[in-house]
Amino acid sequence: MIIRRPDDIPSSEITSEAHYLARREFIARAAGLGAAFVGATLLGACGTRDGAAAAARGGPDSAGATPLDDKPNSFEDVTSYNNYYEFGTDKADPKANSGSLRTRPWTVEVAGLVKSPGRVAIDDFLKPHRLEDRIYRHRCVEAWSMVIPWRGIPLRDVITRLEPLPSAKFVQFTTLLDPRQMPGQQRNVLDWPYTDALRLDEAMHPLAFLATGLYGKSLPNQNGAPLRLVVPWKYGFKGVKAIVKIAFLDRQPATTWNVAAPNEYGFYANVNPDVDHPRWTQSRERRIGEFRRRETLMFNGYASQVASLYQGMDLRRNF
Ligand code: MTE
Repeated sequence: MIIRRPDDIPSSEITSEAHYLARREFIARAAGLGAAFVGATLLGACGTRDGAAAAARGGPDSAGATPLDDKPNSFEDVTSYNNYYEFGTDKADPKANSGSLRTRPWTVEVAGLVKSPGRVAIDDFLKPHRLEDRIYRHRCVEAWSMVIPWRGIPLRDVITRLEPLPSAKFVQFTTLLDPRQMPGQQRNVLDWPYTDALRLDEAMHPLAFLATGLYGKSLPNQNGAPLRLVVPWKYGFKGVKAIVKIAFLDRQPATTWNVAAPNEYGFYANVNPDVDHPRWTQSRERRIGEFRRRETLMFNGYASQVASLYQGMDLRRNF
C-alpha cells in the first residue's frame, strides 16, 4: 500500500514563484540590467532557433530577443508533473508517492577509474562546494518542456575534485535500488536501478549540473532528492534522480532507456528537432502552462555552448 506523506519542505520555506521572480528582478536591477537580460544570460539561449548566439553577444538585442514567457515555471508545475518511474508511471505519481523515500542518511559511492574510490555521506560529498542557482530549460523526450530554477553544483567541479584517472572516458550515474522505499521498483517497468551516463567531456561542460535543490530550497523527493543530474541540452531522461553511485568508466555503459527501447532512446539523447522519435515529432514541444506549441531548439537552445562537443559526429545515427 502506498501511503502519502506531507512534503518535506514546510510551506513557510517555499519561495513563491512571484517572490522568486521579484528577487531575480531586484538582483538584475541592482546590476544595472533588465530582468529579461538575466533570463537570457542564465538560460544562455532564447528567442531564435539558435538564440544562444544572440544571448551570448549580450547587449540590448539579446535582451530584446528573449521572449518574456521564457520564465521559470511555477513551483507547483515543477514539482507536480514529473517522470520518476520508481514511484509510478503517471505524471502525478512522483509527488503523490515519493514521500516514502528517506534522503538522510544517504551515501554516495564513487567508483571505477578515479583516484580514491569509496563511499561518502552525502553532506561530506557536498561540503567542499558552494551551491549555485541556475535557471535551465528542461525538455522531456515526450515533447513537453519547462524552465526550472535549480540549485546545486557544477558537475565539473565535482569531477575535478574526484580526480578521474586518464583512462576514464565516461561517467555513469545510478539511482538508489530499494523497492520498499521506491514501490515502482516492485514492477518490471524498467531494468532497475535506473542509470544513465555521459561522455567525460560532456560531463565536464560548464552547463552540466548536479542539483540539490530548486527554487532556492532543498529538492523535493519527486524532483530527485537528495542529488540528481541536470544536463540542459539533453532530453530529461539523462537527469538521473536520487543518485547513490557515480562511476568512472573506460567504455560507454548501458543506460536504462537505451536498454528498454534502443531504437527510441539513444545514448546521446541530445535535444534535436531534426530527429523525430519513432512515434512522434521532436520538432515542437508543449511548454507546461502554455497552450500553443513551441518550436524545439537544437540542443534545447544551448547550441552555441555545446555543439562543439559533437563536431564530426552524425547526430542522426548518434541520437
Ligand atoms: N530518474 C529516475 N531515477 N527514474 C526516472 O523514471 N525519469 C527521467 C528523469 N530522471 C526518471 C529519472 C525522465 S524521463 C525525465 S523527463 C525527468 O527525470 C523528469 O523529471 P524532472 O521534471 O523532475 O526532471
